[in-house]
Amino acid sequence: MLDYQPAPAKLLNNLNTVVLITNKELQIIYVNQAAEALFATGVKQLQGHLLTDFFVPGILQDQRLRAARRRGEDFTENEISLIFRDNRTALIDLTVTNMQNQNDRQIVFEARVVDQQKRISRENQQNAQHYAARELVRGLAHEIKNPLGGIRGAAQLLAKRLQKPDDLEFTQMIVEQSDRLRNLVDRLLGPNTLPRRQWCNVHQTLERVRSLVTVDPENSVTLIRDYDPSIPEVYIDPDMIQQALLNIVRNSVQALGQARSTNPTIVIISRVERQMTIHGKRHPLVAQLSVRDNGPGIPSEIRDTLFYPMVSTKTGGSGLGLSIAQTLIDHHSGRIDIDSSPGHTEVKMYLPIERKEPL
Ligand SMILES: Nc1ncnc2c1ncn2[C@@H]1O[C@H](COP(=O)(O)OP(=O)(O)O)[C@@H](O)[C@H]1O
Ligand SMILES: [Mg+2]
Repeated sequence: MLDYQPAPAKLLNNLNTVVLITNKELQIIYVNQAAEALFATGVKQLQGHLLTDFFVPGILQDQRLRAARRRGEDFTENEISLIFRDNRTALIDLTVTNMQNQNDRQIVFEARVVDQQKRISRENQQNAQHYAARELVRGLAHEIKNPLGGIRGAAQLLAKRLQKPDDLEFTQMIVEQSDRLRNLVDRLLGPNTLPRRQWCNVHQTLERVRSLVTVDPENSVTLIRDYDPSIPEVYIDPDMIQQALLNIVRNSVQALGQARSTNPTIVIISRVERQMTIHGKRHPLVAQLSVRDNGPGIPSEIRDTLFYPMVSTKTGGSGLGLSIAQTLIDHHSGRIDIDSSPGHTEVKMYLPIERKEPL
């Protein structure tokens, strides 16, 4: 084992760190996969081009970079904001090293995307909050549920002893209201079965959701499909994923209906993402299922608590849809992200695709 040497190209491509090498004119010679992801473009579009061409002018004209080029000085700088030509931004920690390669001097850029690290820790914090809220609700729900059975039973016993038929109305009311509460509490407790996973084509699930929504005659929403047919089969519980998607699509339908948007449209999207970190674990392949609508957007006052149970802006809304969707996705070690602004709301569900074991 001592003389083990990993294949360099493979090793570089498996790093989270962006590695990019240029000649001393800053012409790109090499990029690893993390660099392709940062630049959101492929190696062919990068190689041979000037590094500075990809950024808004001025961004990379830093003195230290000039010194690195001219005098071969190495440096490390933290939290550099990059602005790409297509207006994307990224915050990076950068190390620049000069490397002598035969007669040529080359410059090695190593970058870590800080945004991503911040997002991961925010994600952990969010998860902890959701977990705490869910446990609180669970505890409360159990405390309500236990005596409810007793109240209902006592009302039924009482009903047998009542003489006047008119009085039965009251015991009946107790039974009905207990049932209603029990129903609510059960929904608050959320789905409590473990997923029954099988290999599935996610598009079948997406299509089922689509037909359930289009079948509703009250619905004047245009539903558009934007599927990536190359998604491999995913190991999921299709009923659970269908439920999560339905909750999300229904929210879009309701938001569009309430706002009386002109040309209300929902787009159901599927994509494959590579090398994605979810809950601190990196997955080589992840299925992304999203629902986008052109409705009014999520009200700003509930953005931070959106996934908590009973958070709703609708009269009579239970506020359980997203909380249940999140529990279901958690059962699949996945994640939900939401981007929302007026006229554009996109809920993205990420599900890790585990590779099928060879038979
Ligand atoms: N696509 C969307 N557009 C606008 N607001 C949304 C959307 N999806 C969710 N919301 C907001 O999030 C809240 C919580 O949603 P949810 O948990 O499903 O509960 P409910 O639908 O019962 O209100 C909704 O009341 C609504 O204000
Ligand atoms: Mg809902």
